[in-house]
Amino acid sequence: MHVVITGVNRGIGRTLADNYRARGDKLTGTARDGSAQVVLDVTDPSQHSDVATYLADQPVDLLICNAGVYLDKGQSIDGYPADMWAQSFAINVTGVFLTIQALLPNLRAARGKIAIISSTMASHTRAPGGSYIYRASKAAALSLGRNLATDLRDDGIAVGIYHPGWVRTDMGGPEADITLDQAAEGLIERFDALSLETTGCFENWDGRPHAY
Ligand SMILES: NC(=O)c1ccc[n+]([C@@H]2O[C@H](COP(=O)([O-])OP(=O)(O)OC[C@H]3O[C@@H](n4cnc5c(N)ncnc54)[C@H](OP(=O)(O)O)[C@@H]3O)[C@@H](O)[C@H]2O)c1
Repeated sequence: MHVVITGVNRGIGRTLADNYRARGDKLTGTARDGSAQVVLDVTDPSQHSDVATYLADQPVDLLICNAGVYLDKGQSIDGYPADMWAQSFAINVTGVFLTIQALLPNLRAARGKIAIISSTMASHTRAPGGSYIYRASKAAALSLGRNLATDLRDDGIAVGIYHPGWVRTDMGGPEADITLDQAAEGLIERFDALSLETTGCFENWDGRPHAY
C-alpha cells in the first residue's frame, strides 16, 4: 500500500509515518522544512505542482492530510488578528484542499482513500467557546471532507474525517490525554476500516462516531 502523509517531521504525522513504514507500507512523507522525502508547504500552490510531478504515475492508496496549526491557542476576545485567521485557514483548510486536488489522479488510479485530520473542535454541537479561528478552520475541514466524500464516491474514493484524540505533541501539550502511539494505532485502524460504505464519516481515534 502506498501512503502519503503531510507534516511528517514531528507529532502525529511523524508517528503515523513510522508505523506505516514498520508494517511494510510504501510511505511518501512531506514536510515544509526539507526533512522529508518531499518538500511541501501546504499553502504553496507551486509546491503542490512539484509534488504532483514527483508522484506522477504512482497510485496513492491513502492520503492523510495531517499538517495543521493551532495559532489562536490562548487568544483573548480582543485578539484574533486578521492575519492569524488568514494563515490558519491557508494551512488548515486551503492546504487540505490543494493537497487533495494535486493528488487526485494518483488517488483515482488506486481507487484510494483520503483521511483528513480535523479535531473535536470542529464540532458545532459541542461549543465550549474560545479558539474561534482553530474551531472554524477545523469545522471547514470537516465540511470539505464531507462534501468531497459525495463528489468522489463515483471515483471509488472514500473520505474520512477524524479527531485524533487529545495527543501529547507540541500542539496538544504535555497534559494531553493520550500518547502518540495510542493515537497512531487507533487512527491506522480507522483508516484501514474506511470504505465507500462509511465515506463521509467523522470519527474519534478510538472508533466512536463523533458528533457533528
Ligand atoms: N495534538 C492534538 O491533541 C490534536 C488534537 C486534535 C487535532 N489535532 C490535529 O492533528 C494534526 C497534527 O497535529 P500535531 O499535534 O501532530 O501538531 P504538531 O506537533 O504541532 O505538528 C504539526 C505538523 O503540521 C506541520 N505544518 C504546519 N504548518 C504547515 C504548512 N504550512 N505546511 C506543511 N506542514 C505544516 C508542522 O510542520 P512544521 O514543523 O514545519 O511546523 C508539523 O509537522 C493537526 O492537523 C492538528 O490540528 C491535534
